[in-house]
Amino acid sequence: MNKITVGIVMGSQSDWDVMEQAARQLKDFGVTYEARALSAHRTPDLLIEWMAGLEKQGAQCFIAGAGGAAHLAGVVASKTTLPVLGVPMPSKYLQGLDSLLSIVQMPKGIPVATFAIGEAGAANAGLFAVAMLALNDAALAKKLAAFRAKQAAAVQAVKLPELS
Ligand code: RP5
Repeated sequence: MNKITVGIVMGSQSDWDVMEQAARQLKDFGVTYEARALSAHRTPDLLIEWMAGLEKQGAQCFIAGAGGAAHLAGVVASKTTLPVLGVPMPSKYLQGLDSLLSIVQMPKGIPVATFAIGEAGAANAGLFAVAMLALNDAALAKKLAAFRAKQAAAVQAVKLPELS
């Protein structure tokens, strides 16, 4: 069995539609991950147990997505010195602004790298994890450069419609 490099955690199963974008990026780059729904509020002990297990097997970072009173990424960061990437979930009443502010406003000394609200943030958290891992993995760095080049080519190929 391949060892897990990135732990992806989300506060609820309802976050998966967004957080799968992070998993998708990791999978496409061949980075191993384990994704779990574990909550800072509902299952704090299980969360910490899961994190310790992944750290023991050599995980390099955690991606944590949560919404509303989104304490998950902060709690994860409080229990590890590995990099923690936080993804704010869109929320029903405040459209994810609550999640964003909860995740981004960490106290000095316990950092969480905070990404955009929703799918773009989740995908970028995955890509950021790839970029960190690529610092010590030349093959992964090459794949990342190729991904960027392909993205640039797609933009360059855009033909906007002529007005009649
Ligand atoms: C947060 O509350 C979760 O991260 C989720 O974004 C939000 C709603 O959770 P559910 O009520 O759908 O389980 O803890």
